[in-house]
Amino acid sequence: MSTANLSSLRLKYREKKEVFLEQNIKVKEPIALFREWMEQALQTEELLEPNAACLATVNKDGKPSNRFVLLKDVTDEGFRFFTNYGSNKAKDIANNPNVAMTLYWLPLRRQIRIEGVAEKIPQTDSLAYFRQRPRASQIGALASEQSTRIPSREYLDDIESGIKAKLGPNGQVPLPNWGGYLIRPHTIEFWQGQTDRLHDRIQFRRGPGVEKEIDETLVHKGENGWVYERLAP
Ligand SMILES: Cc1cc2nc3c(=O)[nH]c(=O)nc-3n(C[C@H](O)[C@H](O)[C@H](O)COP(=O)(O)O)c2cc1C
Repeated sequence: MSTANLSSLRLKYREKKEVFLEQNIKVKEPIALFREWMEQALQTEELLEPNAACLATVNKDGKPSNRFVLLKDVTDEGFRFFTNYGSNKAKDIANNPNVAMTLYWLPLRRQIRIEGVAEKIPQTDSLAYFRQRPRASQIGALASEQSTRIPSREYLDDIESGIKAKLGPNGQVPLPNWGGYLIRPHTIEFWQGQTDRLHDRIQFRRGPGVEKEIDETLVHKGENGWVYERLAP
C-alpha cells in the first residue's frame, strides 16, 4: 500500500505575488478591503467558487467542527450565509455564537480569516432570499432535515417526490426551518502568500478596548473603530 507524499505536491501557482503593504490599503477598514479582494477573486477565471467559505463552530462539549458554506453577501454589518436552522452548525451557534470562517483562493495565493459572532437574520430577509432560489432548491431545502440520520438515498427522493406531488407544478414552497446568519466580525486577517515563505499577514480587530492598544509601532489606527497590525508569517 502506498502512502500519499503530500510534501512532493507541486504548486501550479508559483509566480511571485506583489508584496502586500499597509500603505497600499486604500481604506484601513476590513470590509472595504474584503470587497476589493472579493472583486479580484470574482474576476479570476480559474477561481470557480470564490464565495465558498469554511465555517467553524464549537459544540456544547467545546469540540470544534467545520464545513463549507456559500457566503451570500457582505454588508457593513458583516457576512451572511444561509443554512438549515436545525442543522448541527445551527445547534452549535445556538449554544455558542462565536464562529470563524476562512476563505482560500489558490490562484491568488490569498487567505482571509474572519472571526465573529453569528446571529440569525430577520425571517423576512431569509424568506426574500429563499424565494429568489430555483424552485428545485427550495424543494430540496424543504425535503432535507439537514444533519439528521436517514436510512437511504431513496428515502430522501421519496420525500422530495411527496412534496412535489402535494404542491403540484406551481404551488408555492413553504419556508422550511431554514434561513440566514449574519456574522458580525471582530477580527479579520488578510494573508497574501509569497513564494519565499515570507508571506504577508495584516490583521484588523475591533471591540472594547482595542483602540487603547494603538501605539507607534505595532498597532495602528484604522477606520470605523478598527485597528490593524502586521503578524509574522
Ligand atoms: C462548496 C460548498 C458549499 C456549501 N454551501 C452550503 C451552504 O451555503 N449552506 C449549507 O447549509 N450547507 C452548505 N454546504 C454543505 C455543508 O458543507 C454541510 O455539509 C452541511 O451544511 C451540513 O453541515 P452541519 O451538519 O455541520 O450543519 C456546502 C458544501 C460545499 C462543499
